[in-house]
Amino acid sequence: MILRPNQRLKLDDTNDNLFYADPRFVTHVDEAFIKQLTDVYRDKLKPNTRIFDMMSSWVSHLPQMQFAHVEGHGLNAEELARNPRLNHYFVQNLNDHPQLPLPDQDFDAVINCVSVQYIQYPEAVFSEIHRILKPGGVAIISFSNRMFFQKAIQAWRDGSEESRVELVKSYFASVPGFSTPEVIVHKSTMPNFLQWLGAPGGDPFYAVVAYRSS
Ligand SMILES: C[S@@+](CC[C@H](N)C(=O)[O-])C[C@H]1O[C@@H](n2cnc3c(N)ncnc32)[C@H](O)[C@@H]1O
Repeated sequence: MILRPNQRLKLDDTNDNLFYADPRFVTHVDEAFIKQLTDVYRDKLKPNTRIFDMMSSWVSHLPQMQFAHVEGHGLNAEELARNPRLNHYFVQNLNDHPQLPLPDQDFDAVINCVSVQYIQYPEAVFSEIHRILKPGGVAIISFSNRMFFQKAIQAWRDGSEESRVELVKSYFASVPGFSTPEVIVHKSTMPNFLQWLGAPGGDPFYAVVAYRSS
């Protein structure tokens, strides 16, 4: 196990279903972050393939590309119902039930945007990501420095931006059969106080990308 029990704790330890019960039709990161993410997706995803957008909402940040199927997942059905990119979706709390109701080797890509910090059992969830990916399939985990602080696990809250990259790399490393992750970083050039004020272009961008190698 890569996390100690205390590192999995959230300040708000009520069931996550409660926190996400009401829809939030917002974007959680700024336009520059979203553009960088869409560019990564354009580069790494292939047309007419099967995508699993896990921990999704009403937006998937996918490029204008035709996919064979986009499966969505999250905790709020209203948000997912409004997402125009999803062909189908399901609601499931990964901290209660990490096993995905999806077949083995069924997806070419798994994407997870600004949500990995809420996963309490990443070993189990990343094992599921591996299981549902086809050999050669890609997993793209992106994040910034924003979060619902009370819902992020302690290992994330207490970490630096650099240590969070290492944490996500260790999640991949906990499952045999992933390639060595590639890390894509666009640090903010904005002074810290402007980032904190939410100035546009201020959100740092991180993506950790790994392939199912076996
Ligand atoms: C900050 S939002 C990001 C949503 C979306 N990926 C985006 O880019 O806008 C975090 C998402 O993680 C999902 N989430 C949080 N905790 C979860 C849990 N325990 N199980 C499943 N999904 C969860 C919620 O549905 C929520 O939409």
